[in-house]
Amino acid sequence: MATMGSLIGLVNRIQRACTVLGDHGGGGEGSLWEALPSVAVVGGQSSGKSSVLESIVGRDFLPRGSGIVTRRPLVLQLHKTDGGQEYAEFLHAPRKRFSDFAAVRKEIADETDRITGKTKAISNVPIHLSIYSPHVVNLTLIDLPGLTKVAVEGQQESIVQDIENMVRSYVDKPNSIILAISPANQDIATSDAIKLARDVDPSGDRTFGVLTKLDLMDKGTNAVDVLEGRQYRLQHPWVGIVNRSQADINRNVDMLAARRKEKEYFESSPDYGHLAHKMGAEYLAKLLSQHLEAVIRAKIPSIVAMINKTIDEIEAELDRLGRPIGGDAGAQLYTILDMCRAFDRVFKEHLDGGRPGG
Ligand code: GDP
Ligand code: MG
Ligand code: NA
Repeated sequence: MATMGSLIGLVNRIQRACTVLGDHGGGGEGSLWEALPSVAVVGGQSSGKSSVLESIVGRDFLPRGSGIVTRRPLVLQLHKTDGGQEYAEFLHAPRKRFSDFAAVRKEIADETDRITGKTKAISNVPIHLSIYSPHVVNLTLIDLPGLTKVAVEGQQESIVQDIENMVRSYVDKPNSIILAISPANQDIATSDAIKLARDVDPSGDRTFGVLTKLDLMDKGTNAVDVLEGRQYRLQHPWVGIVNRSQADINRNVDMLAARRKEKEYFESSPDYGHLAHKMGAEYLAKLLSQHLEAVIRAKIPSIVAMINKTIDEIEAELDRLGRPIGGDAGAQLYTILDMCRAFDRVFKEHLDGGRPGG
């Protein structure tokens, strides 16, 4: 019997298969991809999205700079290993193992440019990155371009709406968990993340509010009202974060030192001391992983139904093509078919295992 942790791993693998699967599972209403829960990171430009992701992973690996850096969705799958070396792998370069995270950053930037050119345009085609490490929790996060209000030099006017549409396409689906990032040094009422989350998830059922830049608030003010849910109510607790400042990044303050500094910040704070155990990126990662597991568990019956539908569709396709079919396309369909059947078996085991006497 697979453990809860490997349940996220299973869904990770189906998600990757969906990308390869294209029409059968890769998107659209009623697709397998739609049935799978994931965590989408949303927020305005420079709200701290990349910083939060890096802090969750405990590694520097995302391209950074001012303006629009994330121009394609990044599907980031974290796999907890029992030990050994940390490494990363891209779906578009499956045989290459990256152990140098500066090279991961460069590959994300290069792969972004491969589709969009060296423009400031955006693309809906996701980049899939897996990180294997004993120091991460099992979790899938999707980094999305930051919401903006104005197009900048070299961008089409439509970019503002294009970005919003792309982000919406991820957070609209009822299985999506929204990680809504807002900077504490701006009024929460004006947060792009909260505006969008309120729109697609009015009950706050599937939104996790994250407040960054607590260290940058005006002296004499604090965010206790937001963090305790009195300013904008969500079903899940708000999590406050202190990421590295730009000066820290310039000085190459490493992620472990940054985590320590964050912990000290909360523990020694007269304002947030009483909340310290529920603050910070490490706590956020655990919270999200637990929630994602619970959501997946609850969705097993519908995931199994979608997998069976996908199996039927692939079999119909194979019949139409006339079996046995050769070539890459045929091999791919057979592989995916086998994978779906394997998943079907494992998920059904989970389902039976979850029932008393089942
Ligand atoms: P993104 O555009 O939403 O991905 O934002 P980034 O993560 O790139 O952060 C934008 C800038 O804000 C960077 O210079 C970060 O160093 C800085 N920043 C992000 N979070 C914090 C924080 O909690 N405290 C401080 N002081 N700076 C932060
Ligand atoms: Mg960023
Ligand atoms: Na970004």
